[in-house]
Amino acid sequence: MAASCSSSSTAIRLLSPLPQSSDTSRSPTFRHRPLRQRSRASSVVLTSSFVPKFRATISFHQRQIKCNASKVPSVTNFASDPEQLKKAREDIKELIKRTHCNPILIRLGWHDAGTYDKNIEEWPTRGGANGSLRYDIELKHKANAGLDKALSLVSPIKEKYPGISWADFFQLASATAIEEAGGPKIPMKYGRVQTEGPENCPPEGNLPDAGPPSPAEHLRNVFYRMGLSDKDIVALSGAHTLGRSRPERSGWGKPETKYTKDGPGTPGGQSWTVQWLKFDNSYFKDIKEKRDEDLLVLPTDAALFDDPGFKVYAEKYAEDQDAFFKDYAESHAKLSELGAKFDPPEGFSIDEPRKPTPQAVPEKFVAAKYSSDESSRSELSDTMKAKIRAEYLALGGSPDQALKSNYFLNIMLVIGALALLASLVMNQDNYGL
Ligand code: HEM
Repeated sequence: MAASCSSSSTAIRLLSPLPQSSDTSRSPTFRHRPLRQRSRASSVVLTSSFVPKFRATISFHQRQIKCNASKVPSVTNFASDPEQLKKAREDIKELIKRTHCNPILIRLGWHDAGTYDKNIEEWPTRGGANGSLRYDIELKHKANAGLDKALSLVSPIKEKYPGISWADFFQLASATAIEEAGGPKIPMKYGRVQTEGPENCPPEGNLPDAGPPSPAEHLRNVFYRMGLSDKDIVALSGAHTLGRSRPERSGWGKPETKYTKDGPGTPGGQSWTVQWLKFDNSYFKDIKEKRDEDLLVLPTDAALFDDPGFKVYAEKYAEDQDAFFKDYAESHAKLSELGAKFDPPEGFSIDEPRKPTPQAVPEKFVAAKYSSDESSRSELSDTMKAKIRAEYLALGGSPDQALKSNYFLNIMLVIGALALLASLVMNQDNYGL
């Protein structure tokens, strides 16, 4: 078990346990229910009376922690530790910079989540984003060919952060890969509980085939089973704007093309788009045109423009990248939560909340502010304030801010005044004559 007592603050974080054996993938999730008092900010606050109990619990496990009991510590014991998630995200970014592995990380997250069956209530039998794809038995499913490579790539990072569940880790890697490729920010939440053994892996055959007899019908069967919609199907298929298909893995695609023969990453395969490491809407443009023999169009990709229900979205995304990004972000977040059991149940974010834009505080509305008589500077009645406010507004201003000067009117007034002056002077001269 990993537990830490922050020295810089009063926070105590209870994390997932250290691996019981060398198999980190099986590390059980940390649980200390009696200590939990969840606040709105999803942290657990211990009052000092809880602290002795807390210490007893800790010493029962492997690590002794010395904490300042006079301070009120806060503890998180969720399925994953938010701080470790943030650090792992930075390591994933580094890995992506070095190896350009965005596409395979996205496929890894999708294939963990995409086994979900909404008709099964029980977790983890219902499949979904639960980290079961780390087990050999599932990695060997035909649809997952090549994903053992993705697991080898990310495992060293996962080992550094035992306080993260595998379920969260796969989804973190996938969302980070989309964002790092220039895609939209995915509104992710974390706290997914991981499965604890290969016996909980889903049966083979839950993921879509690329070349079934009726592609549109097949896509609907598979994605509706996950509780997803036509819009989700089309938006999520847009992830094929990244990556390649390799005949030696899925059986689809050319061994290499002019766009893939030099990598980056391991050369070869056939991509759906020319710039297959850049997340944009070119997938929809390219599969619509089907003009370049070197670009891949799977039967299920072609269905997006052949089926009238899918076509409305595919056309829209080919035209409007912003619409695609918006819908993609929503659908990806949905996908990443399929079948997941969250701890805390509401999940948590690892992004900083957006700071509200500072707004000018209106000046206090005081009567006779400019009066020389201090004693008359009293607050106005509400009726009077309303009257004055209405008059200001009628002139296009507000009592909270100065009226904007109307330069044109000012110039006209100056000209008028000058003209009047000039005529007076001239009249004087005339009388003088
Ligand atoms: C709609 C049904 C889908 C089918 C039939 C399908 C099929 C395939 C196939 C055959 C490959 C090639 C794998 C290989 O040979 O290495 C592939 C790759 C890929 N898929 Fe899908 N896919 C589907 C949906 C999705 C979704 C929903 C996502 C993500 C949200 C996704 C993301 C990817 C990515 C990023 C790759 C490239 C992997 C790489 O370059 O290593 N796919 N897909």
